Amino acid sequence: MVEIKKIGLLTSGGDAPGMNAAIRAVVKAGIHFDVGVMGIFKGYHGLIHNLMKPLDAQSVNHILPLGGTILKSARSPEFRTPEGRKIAYENFKANGLDGLIVIGGDGTFTGADLFEGEFNVPVIGLPGTIDNDLYGTDYTIGYDTAVNTVMDAVDKLRDTAYSHDRLFIVEVMGRDAGFIALRGGIACGAQKILIPESRTYVEDLLSTLEKGMGSGDNSAIVIVAEGSEFGGAMEVQKIVNERFPDYDTRVSILGHIQRGGSPSAFDRILASGMGFQAVKGIVEGCRGVMVGSVSRQIVFTPFAQSIKHHKTFNMELKNIAEILSA
Ligand code: F6P
Repeated sequence: MVEIKKIGLLTSGGDAPGMNAAIRAVVKAGIHFDVGVMGIFKGYHGLIHNLMKPLDAQSVNHILPLGGTILKSARSPEFRTPEGRKIAYENFKANGLDGLIVIGGDGTFTGADLFEGEFNVPVIGLPGTIDNDLYGTDYTIGYDTAVNTVMDAVDKLRDTAYSHDRLFIVEVMGRDAGFIALRGGIACGAQKILIPESRTYVEDLLSTLEKGMGSGDNSAIVIVAEGSEFGGAMEVQKIVNERFPDYDTRVSILGHIQRGGSPSAFDRILASGMGFQAVKGIVEGCRGVMVGSVSRQIVFTPFAQSIKHHKTFNMELKNIAEILSA
C-alpha cells in the first residue's frame, strides 16, 4: 500500500454549490491525518499545466458558505488524450503527490478512472454536480441547493402566473437527468414535470392543461428538464400554442443561476462528511472509487459503476406530484 503523505485536490466539470465546503473538509481532514493538500486549479487542465498551490487551514478559512469553487473548474479536452494524461502524470510526480481527490460529475470520474488505471495512482472522487445523476449516492453535492433555487424562482413565477392567468413553462438544468425537475417540480407544485427518463405524451400534457382551464384559475406551471423528449421549454411552448392559441404562455429558462449561490445546510453537511471520508479512505488504501451517501451511510463505489449504472429514478414520486397538483 502506498503511504499517502501528499495529495492533489481539484474540482472539475460544472461547478456546484458545496464544492468549497468539500475543499475545506479535505484540507482540514488532511491536517488531521497529517496529509498535505496541493490545490490544483481549473481541474485536469491545471494538472497538465502545473497550476498548483499548497492549501493550508488559512486558505480555506471562510469558504464554507461560498458558492462556486475557489479552485476554479474546467472541462479539459487535453486530459481526454493519452498524451495529455501523461503530462499530467509527470506533473503529479514532479510535485511529490501520492494520490488525488477529484470533485465533479461523470466526466470527472471518467478521467479519474483512466488516470488511475494508466499510472496506478490512488484516486478518490467526491460527487459534485447539481444534476444528482451519479449511481452510488442518494445525493450529490450541490443538488439540494439547486432544487431550492428552482423552488424560490418558481414561487416567484407562480405569483405572476396567477395574477395574469398564464401558463409558465420553466426550463431547468438536466441534459440527461430529470432529478432537478422532479424535486423542483414537487416543491413548487408544478402541474406537469417533463423529464428525459420517461415519455410524456403530448396528449397527456395538453389534457392536463385543458382540465385546469375554465376553473377560474388558468395559471399553471410546467417544469421541463432541458433534456426532455420534447426538447427545452421553447419547444414545449410551441406545442401548447398550436393547440391552445388563446392560452397566454410564457417561457422562463432558469439556466446557470441553478449552479450558483451559497450552499444549503444539507449540501454543506454532505460535502463536509464526504470530504473527510475521502481523505480517510485514501489514507486507508481505498482507490478508484467515488464516496457516496446511501441511506445515510457512507459507501465507496468504483468509478466505472458510478458512471455507467443508472441511478433509479423515483417515477412514483413523479406521479404523486402530478396527482397532487391536479
Ligand atoms: O452538469 C451540470 C450541468 O449544469 C447540466 O445540468 C447542464 O446541462 C450543463 O452542466 C451545462 O454546462 P455548461 O454550461 O457549463 O457547459
